[in-house]
Amino acid sequence: MTQPYKKKLIEVAIPLEAINAASAREKSIRHGHPSTLHLWWARRPLAACRAVLFAQLVDDPSSNPENFPTPEAQEAERKRLFGIIEELVKWENSTNEEVLERARAEIRKSCGGELPPVYDPFSGGGSIPLEAQRLGLPAYGSDLNPVAVMIGKAMIEIPPKFKDKEPIHPGVKDRQFYRNSEGLAEDVKYYGEWMREKAWERIGHLYPEVDLPQEYGGGKATVIAWIWARTVPSPDPAFADVQVPIASSFLLSSKAGKEAWIEPIVDRKAKTITYRIRKGGTKAELEVAKEGTKAGRGANFRCIMSDTAITPKHITSAGKAGHMGQTLIAIVAEGKGGRAYVAPTDRHDTLAKSGKPAWKPEQRQPNNPRWFSPPAYGMETFGDLFTDRQLLALNTFSDLVHEARAQVEVDARAAGLSSDLTSLCDGGSGAKAYAEAVSVYLTFGVSKATDYHSSITTWHSSREIIRNTFGRQALPMTWDFTEANIFSASTGNWRNCIEWGVKTLDALMPRNTGLEIQHDAQSVTYPERTVISSDPPYYDNIGYADLSDFFFSWMKPALRPVYPEIFGVLATPKAEELVATPYRHGGKDAAEAFFLDGMSRAIANMAAQSSDLFPATIYYAFKQSEVAQDGISSTGWATFLQAVVEAGYAVVGTWPMRTEMANRMIASGTNALANSVVLVCRKKEATAEAITRAEFVRALKRELPPAIAELQVANIAPADMPQSAIGPGMGVFSRYKAVLESDDSPMSVKTALQLINRELDEYLGGIQGEFDADTRFAITWFEQNGNGKGDYGVADNLARARGISVESVKHAGIVESAAGKVRILIRDELDEDWEPESDSHLTVWECLQHLVRLHEKDGISHDTAVLLKKINAQAETVKDLAYCLYDISANKRKDAKEATAYNALIADWAELTKAAAAIHDTSGDRQTRMDI
Ligand SMILES: C[S@@+](CC[C@H](N)C(=O)[O-])C[C@H]1O[C@@H](n2cnc3c(N)ncnc32)[C@H](O)[C@@H]1O
Repeated sequence: MTQPYKKKLIEVAIPLEAINAASAREKSIRHGHPSTLHLWWARRPLAACRAVLFAQLVDDPSSNPENFPTPEAQEAERKRLFGIIEELVKWENSTNEEVLERARAEIRKSCGGELPPVYDPFSGGGSIPLEAQRLGLPAYGSDLNPVAVMIGKAMIEIPPKFKDKEPIHPGVKDRQFYRNSEGLAEDVKYYGEWMREKAWERIGHLYPEVDLPQEYGGGKATVIAWIWARTVPSPDPAFADVQVPIASSFLLSSKAGKEAWIEPIVDRKAKTITYRIRKGGTKAELEVAKEGTKAGRGANFRCIMSDTAITPKHITSAGKAGHMGQTLIAIVAEGKGGRAYVAPTDRHDTLAKSGKPAWKPEQRQPNNPRWFSPPAYGMETFGDLFTDRQLLALNTFSDLVHEARAQVEVDARAAGLSSDLTSLCDGGSGAKAYAEAVSVYLTFGVSKATDYHSSITTWHSSREIIRNTFGRQALPMTWDFTEANIFSASTGNWRNCIEWGVKTLDALMPRNTGLEIQHDAQSVTYPERTVISSDPPYYDNIGYADLSDFFFSWMKPALRPVYPEIFGVLATPKAEELVATPYRHGGKDAAEAFFLDGMSRAIANMAAQSSDLFPATIYYAFKQSEVAQDGISSTGWATFLQAVVEAGYAVVGTWPMRTEMANRMIASGTNALANSVVLVCRKKEATAEAITRAEFVRALKRELPPAIAELQVANIAPADMPQSAIGPGMGVFSRYKAVLESDDSPMSVKTALQLINRELDEYLGGIQGEFDADTRFAITWFEQNGNGKGDYGVADNLARARGISVESVKHAGIVESAAGKVRILIRDELDEDWEPESDSHLTVWECLQHLVRLHEKDGISHDTAVLLKKINAQAETVKDLAYCLYDISANKRKDAKEATAYNALIADWAELTKAAAAIHDTSGDRQTRMDI
């Protein structure tokens, strides 16, 4: 039967290493990165989204045999497409019109000139729709969460409406041309500054300068942050009327030569505690300062007034009874040559507490201690996470959003924008809609400010900066915290809060219209011919709705007039959120059932309405801790795949994506596996039938080995192999209506994953048959002993079983044998002058170990490439051995360092092969140079 569609590139191959390297690099980019527009949790790297969309839309050359009749011609064309992707994923090219246009042209060619809409029904931070828009496609996104919807609107929906428009603020400079969103960005910056001036008039007096001590040169300085410690009544009855600090650290700066710390001075008689700033100090003093008043992990402290223990119970009951307070322990100021640390003064303490906010968020934090710690200490509402002065500042800026909106409308009219009164949410584009648009980005400034102006922010003594609220996907409890100065020029200042948005807007490239709506993914109505690319929630990883109430609480008062429907609710919707949280669903099993049911429905909805011409791509992220040793069996992953299969999709590919470089991932310990996997799905054939378990295993045995071999040819890193092999394995499983166990019950995805993994193991074991006998001996010996010694007698038996002797393996330069013991030579012991051409007893083992030795030393160097060239005839077998030894080191011997060496070599294999091909002559010495 002929296929009703053309195979797309992503169903055959993608340049994984280039995509992963660009994704990893992107993590370090801050300025102008769209993710800085508004915080959202677990965003996908834009490079990955861009590459996946491209490969999902562009034909694989094998689909066009009239143009590419031979496998060689197809491979050559694939290489050309890879070249386009390799350029496309580079961060520097994300605004490069030439590179983007080349990609767009390719997409147009594969889509018959008519570009299909791309839709992400779990759009979150908007990465996928944003990239769809960049590639010139109509971009659609929806999310259940109002905050995510606003991010999507700000990213893809609003900018195209005002593309290439001049700014409207008074005193616009004479400039010839405003491209894309530059005009909008300039207005956001202008009105952001306008708000700052007004706010300073209203509350500036609460942010006094501080007198600098002589050691900092004297004079006055702007405060960067006030550092507070929470307090509780002393547990000692004799001091029950004294509030004592519970501080996790008194360290202000641990930078070498710039050490500074807080010393509490206790006067038991007067029952007072004051604080002074100390500089320098001995190692012991700094150690003490680093401990603050802690007496153990968690909420265990020491009362510095009475030296009695402050237990978690004491803190909890003090917090719940409203007896938790705060005391100023240090002031950080903008000194002349860096940070200046100043002791607290009464004036600063009093002023901080003098402003009374008119409003604070009343929404309660969820009763879910896994992600929300403050409620246990009586801080129950989101409003409780702020000090009074923080609330006052946030209220002031939030109110000013409304005033700015009114002012923009007046100025926009004066600048000639139509006085059409249609709102932004009704499709308007006149002065009123424009004012509303500007106010969205100003509100994002307030959001950014909430992240830096809560009492969950802390002081980072090694970098001397403030940590924002959401360092993690949770709200932890803080004992000592910072209160940033919103009017300073340092972290968390208002100008910065606005600047992040301005920089993002400046770099956006709105082309087509984009649409972002609020909708439950289970019931979205998709536009015709939709292509799906989506990144659903990962089981129980992140509680989006619960966390986002932190931002929603502030966004709602500022934006309700602009989007009355979205903000006409008390809090973010929770009931339909597809997150498997036991606390919400009354237990683990109920949470899993809810997730599986809802996700199946959402994915079935995609499968029912999306285009038949394109595969769908669905991201699934791994949480490292839930991935068991076999690399696949985790509740979340299996449940998710089960949902995909139950929804009527056949999985035709799985691509592991990572944001860590391949050679770093094991070295860094935890990150041994890809961060996420992209599933490539096609709708299941209506004629699909059921098969038995035995038939399934036979099909796996038939289809998996060639598929794995192909993945090896594509240089998939060994660490990624278990996840990559799931693709072809699930391809077999999901092709059928069901796989029936002996009792006729359908096989679960979890079982299928185990069988696929077993097959991969057998494959890796099987390829050992291709190695020479000495190498096969070395593999078994290494698996049993690593680089340690073992008995000669055992070695002798092993060698005999392979038709060789221990002497032969020794002669091959693989082992050392002495005093009844045998040991594999470590790489440092190998002969540096070894030449494969003159080795009369050449083994695959030696070839690999010498290659790894050079690669470990110099990476993709000339010497490494020369060696690869010299062993060209054995290269593929050497690579096979690297896969085997990775598997043994990582999974059986648990030797992460050794595994990393093989993984890193494969990760660089393509580059090395290229370098080796460029060497024309390896005769003579190692001075042979490459043709570059
Ligand atoms: C993994 S995140 C998407 C992240 C996004 N790809 C990015 O790069 O920023 C998953 C999203 O699914 C949303 N979500 C959860 N349940 C949903 C539902 N029933 N319908 C629509 N969206 C939902 C969450 O609010 C969250 O934004």
